[in-house]
Amino acid sequence: MPSIAVLPGDGIGKEVINEGLKILNFMGDRYNLNLKFEEFDIGAERFLKYGELIPDSILKRLETFDAIYLGAVGDPRVPAGVLEHGILLKLRFHFDQYVNLRPIKLLNDRFSPLKKKGVNEINFTVIRENTEGLYAGIGGILKKDTKDEVAIQEMISTRKGVERIIRYAFEYAKNNNGKLTLCDKSNVLTYSHGLWLRVFEELKKEYPEVQTDHYYVDAITMKMVRNPEIFDVIVTCNMFGDIITDLGAELQGGMGLAASGNINPNTVSMFEPVHGSAPDIAGKGIANPLAAILAAAMMLEYFGRKDLSEKIEGAIKISIDENLLSKDMGGNLSTSEVGDEIVKILKRG
Ligand code: NAI
Ligand code: MG
Repeated sequence: MPSIAVLPGDGIGKEVINEGLKILNFMGDRYNLNLKFEEFDIGAERFLKYGELIPDSILKRLETFDAIYLGAVGDPRVPAGVLEHGILLKLRFHFDQYVNLRPIKLLNDRFSPLKKKGVNEINFTVIRENTEGLYAGIGGILKKDTKDEVAIQEMISTRKGVERIIRYAFEYAKNNNGKLTLCDKSNVLTYSHGLWLRVFEELKKEYPEVQTDHYYVDAITMKMVRNPEIFDVIVTCNMFGDIITDLGAELQGGMGLAASGNINPNTVSMFEPVHGSAPDIAGKGIANPLAAILAAAMMLEYFGRKDLSEKIEGAIKISIDENLLSKDMGGNLSTSEVGDEIVKILKRG
Protein backbone atom coordinates (compact mmCIF):
# COMPACT_ATOMS: atom_id res chain seq x y z
CA MET A 1 0.00 0.00 0.00
CA PRO A 2 2.03 2.91 -1.25
CA SER A 3 1.92 6.07 0.85
CA ILE A 4 2.08 9.39 -0.93
CA ALA A 5 3.00 12.75 0.57
CA VAL A 6 1.10 15.45 -1.28
CA LEU A 7 2.72 18.89 -1.55
CA PRO A 8 0.43 21.04 -3.69
CA GLY A 9 2.54 24.17 -3.14
CA ASP A 10 1.55 27.51 -4.62
CA GLY A 11 -0.66 29.02 -7.29
CA ILE A 12 -1.95 26.54 -9.86
CA GLY A 13 0.07 23.84 -8.09
CA LYS A 14 -2.91 23.36 -5.78
CA GLU A 15 -5.42 23.39 -8.64
CA VAL A 16 -3.67 20.83 -10.82
CA ILE A 17 -2.76 18.51 -7.94
CA ASN A 18 -6.45 18.33 -7.02
CA GLU A 19 -7.12 16.85 -10.44
CA GLY A 20 -4.22 14.43 -10.17
CA LEU A 21 -5.63 13.25 -6.84
CA LYS A 22 -9.06 12.85 -8.42
CA ILE A 23 -7.55 10.43 -10.93
CA LEU A 24 -5.41 8.62 -8.32
CA ASN A 25 -8.42 8.20 -6.02
CA PHE A 26 -10.46 6.77 -8.86
CA MET A 27 -7.69 4.34 -9.87
CA GLY A 28 -7.09 3.44 -6.23
CA ASP A 29 -10.75 2.48 -5.75
CA ARG A 30 -11.13 0.65 -9.03
CA TYR A 31 -7.92 -1.36 -8.81
CA ASN A 32 -7.71 -1.77 -5.02
CA LEU A 33 -4.43 0.05 -4.78
CA ASN A 34 -4.92 1.06 -1.17
CA LEU A 35 -3.14 4.36 -1.73
CA LYS A 36 -2.59 6.47 1.38
CA PHE A 37 -2.33 10.24 1.06
CA GLU A 38 -1.20 12.90 3.47
CA GLU A 39 -1.08 16.55 2.54
CA PHE A 40 1.59 19.01 3.70
CA ASP A 41 1.25 22.76 3.39
CA ILE A 42 4.56 23.89 2.06
CA GLY A 43 5.06 27.03 0.04
CA ALA A 44 4.53 30.78 0.06
CA GLU A 45 1.78 30.90 2.73
CA ARG A 46 3.87 29.09 5.32
CA PHE A 47 6.90 31.18 4.44
CA LEU A 48 5.04 34.49 4.68
CA LYS A 49 3.34 33.52 7.95
CA TYR A 50 6.17 31.78 9.80
CA GLY A 51 9.31 32.47 7.78
CA GLU A 52 9.61 28.70 7.33
CA LEU A 53 10.44 26.87 4.12
CA ILE A 54 10.46 23.18 4.87
CA PRO A 55 10.91 22.48 8.57
CA ASP A 56 13.07 19.55 9.65
CA SER A 57 10.08 17.94 11.33
CA ILE A 58 8.29 17.72 7.95
CA LEU A 59 11.45 16.57 6.20
CA LYS A 60 11.69 13.73 8.73
CA ARG A 61 8.02 12.81 8.16
CA LEU A 62 8.53 12.80 4.39
CA GLU A 63 11.23 10.16 4.80
CA THR A 64 8.53 7.68 5.80
CA PHE A 65 6.59 7.93 2.51
CA ASP A 66 6.97 5.93 -0.68
CA ALA A 67 6.75 8.99 -2.91
CA ILE A 68 6.08 12.72 -2.98
CA TYR A 69 3.51 14.24 -5.33
CA LEU A 70 4.34 17.90 -5.82
CA GLY A 71 2.50 20.76 -7.56
CA ALA A 72 4.73 23.80 -7.96
CA VAL A 73 6.22 26.49 -5.78
CA GLY A 74 6.78 30.18 -6.44
CA ASP A 75 4.89 33.33 -5.52
CA PRO A 76 5.26 36.95 -6.59
CA ARG A 77 5.21 38.07 -2.91
CA VAL A 78 8.40 36.10 -2.21
CA PRO A 79 11.76 37.03 -3.77
CA ALA A 80 12.55 34.89 -6.80
CA GLY A 81 14.39 31.69 -6.00
CA VAL A 82 13.68 31.56 -2.25
CA LEU A 83 10.92 28.96 -2.42
CA GLU A 84 12.43 27.15 -5.39
CA HIS A 85 15.80 26.76 -3.63
CA GLY A 86 14.46 26.31 -0.13
CA ILE A 87 11.88 23.69 -1.06
CA LEU A 88 12.39 22.07 -4.46
CA LEU A 89 16.18 21.90 -4.45
CA LYS A 90 16.18 21.13 -0.75
CA LEU A 91 14.00 18.07 -1.35
CA ARG A 92 16.02 16.94 -4.37
CA PHE A 93 19.24 17.14 -2.35
CA HIS A 94 17.85 15.77 0.90
CA PHE A 95 16.62 12.65 -0.87
CA ASP A 96 19.58 12.61 -3.26
CA GLN A 97 17.18 12.28 -6.20
CA TYR A 98 19.90 11.76 -8.76
CA VAL A 99 17.64 10.86 -11.67
CA ASN A 100 15.46 13.37 -13.43
CA LEU A 101 13.20 11.29 -15.64
CA ARG A 102 11.49 13.18 -18.46
CA PRO A 103 9.29 11.34 -20.94
CA ILE A 104 9.07 13.23 -24.24
CA LYS A 105 5.95 11.75 -25.73
CA LEU A 106 3.64 13.45 -28.19
CA LEU A 107 0.07 12.31 -27.52
CA ASN A 108 -1.64 13.74 -30.59
CA ASP A 109 -0.29 14.72 -34.01
CA ARG A 110 -2.06 18.05 -33.98
CA PHE A 111 0.20 19.30 -31.16
CA SER A 112 3.42 18.46 -33.00
CA PRO A 113 5.50 21.53 -33.84
CA LEU A 114 7.30 19.51 -36.52
CA LYS A 115 6.09 18.90 -40.04
CA LYS A 116 5.69 15.17 -40.77
CA LYS A 117 6.67 14.09 -37.25
CA GLY A 118 3.88 12.73 -35.11
CA VAL A 119 3.13 10.35 -32.26
CA ASN A 120 5.13 7.55 -33.88
CA GLU A 121 8.23 9.70 -34.18
CA ILE A 122 8.19 11.79 -30.99
CA ASN A 123 8.40 9.21 -28.24
CA PHE A 124 11.49 8.95 -26.08
CA THR A 125 12.75 9.55 -22.55
CA VAL A 126 15.50 11.82 -21.29
CA ILE A 127 17.36 10.75 -18.16
CA ARG A 128 19.09 13.80 -16.72
CA GLU A 129 21.68 13.70 -13.96
CA ASN A 130 20.13 15.74 -11.18
CA THR A 131 22.79 16.38 -8.50
CA GLU A 132 26.17 17.23 -10.06
CA GLY A 133 27.66 18.84 -13.13
CA LEU A 134 27.65 22.60 -13.59
CA TYR A 135 24.69 22.97 -11.25
CA ALA A 136 26.47 21.63 -8.16
CA GLY A 137 27.02 25.20 -6.97
CA ILE A 138 30.79 25.06 -6.59
CA GLY A 139 32.84 28.08 -7.54
CA GLY A 140 33.60 31.59 -6.49
CA ILE A 141 34.29 35.16 -7.42
CA LEU A 142 37.54 37.05 -7.01
CA LYS A 143 37.96 40.87 -7.19
CA LYS A 144 34.24 41.38 -7.52
CA ASP A 145 33.07 44.46 -9.42
CA THR A 146 36.56 45.36 -10.58
CA LYS A 147 38.03 45.18 -14.06
CA ASP A 148 40.04 42.18 -12.89
CA GLU A 149 37.03 40.21 -11.69
CA VAL A 150 37.27 36.44 -12.01
CA ALA A 151 34.24 34.14 -11.81
CA ILE A 152 34.59 30.39 -11.63
CA GLN A 153 31.76 27.86 -11.80
CA GLU A 154 33.00 24.33 -11.59
CA MET A 155 31.60 21.28 -13.32
CA ILE A 156 31.53 18.33 -10.96
CA SER A 157 31.53 14.78 -12.26
CA THR A 158 32.21 12.05 -9.72
CA ARG A 159 32.68 8.47 -10.77
CA LYS A 160 29.97 7.44 -8.31
CA GLY A 161 27.56 10.07 -9.64
CA VAL A 162 28.25 9.34 -13.30
CA GLU A 163 28.13 5.61 -12.86
CA ARG A 164 24.82 5.53 -11.01
CA ILE A 165 23.00 7.69 -13.55
CA ILE A 166 24.38 5.80 -16.54
CA ARG A 167 23.58 2.49 -14.87
CA TYR A 168 20.04 3.68 -14.18
CA ALA A 169 19.73 4.60 -17.86
CA PHE A 170 21.00 1.20 -19.03
CA GLU A 171 18.50 -0.53 -16.73
CA TYR A 172 15.72 1.71 -17.98
CA ALA A 173 16.62 1.06 -21.63
CA LYS A 174 16.83 -2.67 -20.96
CA ASN A 175 13.45 -2.80 -19.22
CA ASN A 176 11.81 -0.82 -22.01
CA ASN A 177 13.55 -2.60 -24.89
CA GLY A 178 15.08 0.63 -26.04
CA LYS A 179 18.31 1.98 -27.40
CA LEU A 180 20.43 4.12 -25.07
CA THR A 181 22.01 7.32 -26.38
CA LEU A 182 24.76 9.15 -24.51
CA CYS A 183 24.58 12.93 -24.95
CA ASP A 184 27.71 14.80 -23.87
CA LYS A 185 30.47 17.09 -25.10
CA SER A 186 33.42 14.80 -24.51
CA ASN A 187 35.35 16.21 -27.45
CA VAL A 188 35.71 19.55 -25.63
CA LEU A 189 34.96 18.82 -21.95
CA THR A 190 37.66 16.19 -22.11
CA TYR A 191 38.06 15.67 -18.35
CA SER A 192 34.50 15.79 -17.14
CA HIS A 193 32.78 14.21 -20.08
CA GLY A 194 35.77 12.03 -20.78
CA LEU A 195 34.75 10.34 -17.54
CA TRP A 196 31.15 10.03 -18.77
CA LEU A 197 32.31 8.43 -21.99
CA ARG A 198 34.63 5.98 -20.27
CA VAL A 199 31.96 4.91 -17.78
CA PHE A 200 29.45 4.54 -20.63
CA GLU A 201 31.87 2.29 -22.51
CA GLU A 202 32.53 0.23 -19.38
CA LEU A 203 28.86 -0.29 -18.56
CA LYS A 204 28.04 -1.19 -22.16
CA LYS A 205 29.86 -4.47 -21.56
CA GLU A 206 27.46 -5.30 -18.72
CA TYR A 207 24.43 -4.67 -20.94
CA PRO A 208 25.20 -6.39 -24.25
CA GLU A 209 21.46 -6.56 -24.99
CA VAL A 210 21.12 -2.77 -25.01
CA GLN A 211 21.90 -1.06 -28.30
CA THR A 212 23.76 2.23 -27.85
CA ASP A 213 24.89 5.32 -29.68
CA HIS A 214 26.47 8.67 -28.85
CA TYR A 215 25.87 12.31 -29.85
CA TYR A 216 27.46 15.58 -28.83
CA VAL A 217 24.93 17.93 -27.31
CA ASP A 218 24.93 20.42 -30.18
CA ALA A 219 24.35 17.64 -32.70
CA ILE A 220 21.59 16.12 -30.61
CA THR A 221 19.51 19.30 -30.73
CA MET A 222 19.55 19.06 -34.53
CA LYS A 223 18.64 15.38 -34.46
CA MET A 224 15.82 15.94 -31.96
CA VAL A 225 14.21 18.29 -34.44
CA ARG A 226 15.12 16.53 -37.70
CA ASN A 227 14.89 12.85 -36.70
CA PRO A 228 13.34 12.50 -33.23
CA GLU A 229 12.33 8.93 -34.14
CA ILE A 230 15.91 7.67 -33.73
CA PHE A 231 15.78 8.11 -29.94
CA ASP A 232 14.47 5.80 -27.21
CA VAL A 233 16.40 6.79 -24.08
CA ILE A 234 18.93 9.62 -23.79
CA VAL A 235 21.23 9.95 -20.77
CA THR A 236 22.95 13.26 -20.13
CA CYS A 237 24.43 15.62 -17.55
CA ASN A 238 22.57 18.17 -15.46
CA MET A 239 22.93 21.27 -17.65
CA PHE A 240 22.51 19.58 -21.03
CA GLY A 241 19.49 17.76 -19.61
CA ASP A 242 17.99 21.06 -18.51
CA ILE A 243 18.27 22.43 -22.02
CA ILE A 244 17.29 19.43 -24.12
CA THR A 245 14.26 18.64 -21.94
CA ASP A 246 12.87 22.11 -22.64
CA LEU A 247 13.34 21.44 -26.34
CA GLY A 248 11.65 18.11 -25.68
CA ALA A 249 8.72 19.78 -23.89
CA GLU A 250 7.98 21.76 -27.04
CA LEU A 251 8.24 18.62 -29.18
CA GLN A 252 5.63 16.91 -27.01
CA GLY A 253 3.19 19.78 -27.28
CA GLY A 254 4.27 22.25 -24.61
CA MET A 255 4.52 22.66 -20.86
CA GLY A 256 0.90 21.66 -20.39
CA LEU A 257 1.93 18.05 -21.06
CA ALA A 258 5.40 17.86 -19.53
CA ALA A 259 5.79 15.74 -16.39
CA SER A 260 8.87 14.64 -14.52
CA GLY A 261 10.12 12.27 -11.87
CA ASN A 262 12.97 13.07 -9.48
CA ILE A 263 14.07 9.61 -8.55
CA ASN A 264 16.31 7.81 -6.13
CA PRO A 265 15.16 4.19 -5.93
CA ASN A 266 16.72 3.91 -2.44
CA THR A 267 15.11 6.94 -0.79
CA VAL A 268 11.95 8.87 -1.64
CA SER A 269 11.14 9.88 -5.20
CA MET A 270 9.14 12.92 -6.23
CA PHE A 271 6.76 13.37 -9.16
CA GLU A 272 5.68 16.76 -10.49
CA PRO A 273 4.48 18.67 -13.51
CA VAL A 274 7.34 20.59 -15.10
CA HIS A 275 5.52 23.92 -15.20
CA GLY A 276 5.58 26.43 -12.35
CA SER A 277 2.91 28.04 -10.18
CA ALA A 278 1.70 30.34 -13.01
CA PRO A 279 0.66 33.33 -10.87
CA ASP A 280 -0.82 34.98 -13.97
CA ILE A 281 -3.65 32.43 -14.13
CA ALA A 282 -3.75 31.15 -10.53
CA GLY A 283 -7.18 31.12 -8.89
CA LYS A 284 -9.06 31.33 -12.17
CA GLY A 285 -9.72 27.61 -12.51
CA ILE A 286 -8.32 27.49 -16.03
CA ALA A 287 -4.95 25.78 -15.46
CA ASN A 288 -4.29 22.71 -17.54
CA PRO A 289 -4.05 19.69 -15.20
CA LEU A 290 -2.72 17.18 -17.77
CA ALA A 291 0.95 17.52 -16.82
CA ALA A 292 0.07 16.92 -13.16
CA ILE A 293 -2.08 13.93 -14.13
CA LEU A 294 0.76 12.52 -16.25
CA ALA A 295 3.07 12.97 -13.24
CA ALA A 296 0.59 10.93 -11.18
CA ALA A 297 0.66 8.25 -13.89
CA MET A 298 4.47 8.20 -13.75
CA MET A 299 4.21 7.67 -10.00
CA LEU A 300 1.98 4.61 -10.51
CA GLU A 301 4.49 3.26 -13.02
CA TYR A 302 7.21 3.80 -10.42
CA PHE A 303 5.11 1.74 -7.98
CA GLY A 304 5.20 -1.09 -10.53
CA ARG A 305 1.83 -0.42 -12.19
CA LYS A 306 2.87 0.45 -15.74
CA ASP A 307 -0.46 -1.04 -16.84
CA LEU A 308 -2.38 1.62 -14.91
CA SER A 309 -0.07 4.38 -16.01
CA GLU A 310 -0.85 3.36 -19.60
CA LYS A 311 -4.57 3.44 -18.89
CA ILE A 312 -4.31 7.02 -17.64
CA GLU A 313 -2.24 8.02 -20.63
CA GLY A 314 -4.77 6.33 -22.90
CA ALA A 315 -7.59 8.29 -21.28
CA ILE A 316 -5.68 11.54 -21.73
CA LYS A 317 -5.17 10.67 -25.40
CA ILE A 318 -8.92 10.23 -25.81
CA SER A 319 -9.60 13.51 -24.01
CA ILE A 320 -7.24 15.22 -26.46
CA ASP A 321 -8.85 13.50 -29.46
CA GLU A 322 -12.26 14.71 -28.26
CA ASN A 323 -10.94 18.21 -27.45
CA LEU A 324 -11.97 17.91 -23.80
CA LEU A 325 -9.25 20.40 -22.97
CA SER A 326 -8.40 23.59 -21.14
CA LYS A 327 -8.00 26.90 -22.92
CA ASP A 328 -4.21 26.76 -23.36
CA MET A 329 -4.65 23.63 -25.51
CA GLY A 330 -7.53 25.04 -27.51
CA GLY A 331 -10.45 23.72 -25.46
CA ASN A 332 -12.92 25.49 -23.23
CA LEU A 333 -13.04 23.33 -20.08
CA SER A 334 -12.09 24.39 -16.58
CA THR A 335 -9.31 22.65 -14.65
CA SER A 336 -11.75 20.48 -12.72
CA GLU A 337 -13.86 19.69 -15.79
CA VAL A 338 -10.78 18.29 -17.53
CA GLY A 339 -10.21 16.01 -14.52
CA ASP A 340 -13.88 14.97 -14.47
CA GLU A 341 -13.81 14.07 -18.16
CA ILE A 342 -10.73 11.90 -17.71
CA VAL A 343 -12.41 10.06 -14.85
CA LYS A 344 -15.45 9.50 -17.10
CA ILE A 345 -13.22 8.07 -19.83
CA LEU A 346 -11.44 5.83 -17.31
CA LYS A 347 -14.82 4.58 -16.08
CA ARG A 348 -15.70 3.46 -19.62
CA GLY A 349 -12.45 1.51 -20.08
P1 NAI B 1 5.22 28.93 -15.25
O1 NAI B 1 5.46 27.56 -15.78
O2 NAI B 1 4.57 29.02 -13.93
O3 NAI B 1 4.34 29.74 -16.30
C1 NAI B 1 4.79 30.10 -17.61
C2 NAI B 1 3.58 30.42 -18.51
O4 NAI B 1 2.91 29.20 -18.82
C3 NAI B 1 2.56 31.32 -17.83
O5 NAI B 1 1.99 32.17 -18.78
C4 NAI B 1 1.52 30.34 -17.32
O6 NAI B 1 0.23 30.88 -17.24
C5 NAI B 1 1.59 29.23 -18.35
N1 NAI B 1 1.30 27.92 -17.73
C6 NAI B 1 2.14 27.20 -16.94
N2 NAI B 1 1.56 26.06 -16.54
C7 NAI B 1 0.33 26.07 -17.07
C8 NAI B 1 -0.77 25.16 -17.00
N3 NAI B 1 -0.71 24.03 -16.29
N4 NAI B 1 -1.90 25.48 -17.65
C9 NAI B 1 -1.99 26.61 -18.37
N5 NAI B 1 -1.00 27.52 -18.47
C10 NAI B 1 0.15 27.24 -17.83
O7 NAI B 1 6.63 29.66 -15.22
P2 NAI B 1 6.99 31.12 -14.69
O8 NAI B 1 5.89 32.07 -14.98
O9 NAI B 1 8.33 31.38 -15.20
O10 NAI B 1 7.14 30.96 -13.12
C11 NAI B 1 6.11 31.24 -12.18
C12 NAI B 1 6.58 30.82 -10.81
O11 NAI B 1 6.74 29.39 -10.77
C13 NAI B 1 7.92 31.41 -10.44
O12 NAI B 1 7.89 31.71 -9.07
C14 NAI B 1 8.88 30.27 -10.74
O13 NAI B 1 10.05 30.37 -9.98
C15 NAI B 1 8.05 29.08 -10.33
N6 NAI B 1 8.46 27.81 -10.98
C16 NAI B 1 8.34 26.70 -10.22
C17 NAI B 1 8.61 25.46 -10.77
C18 NAI B 1 8.39 24.26 -9.93
O14 NAI B 1 7.85 24.36 -8.84
N7 NAI B 1 8.80 23.10 -10.39
C19 NAI B 1 9.07 25.32 -12.16
C20 NAI B 1 9.09 26.56 -12.89
C21 NAI B 1 8.82 27.76 -12.31
MG1 MG C 1 14.68 24.20 -17.34
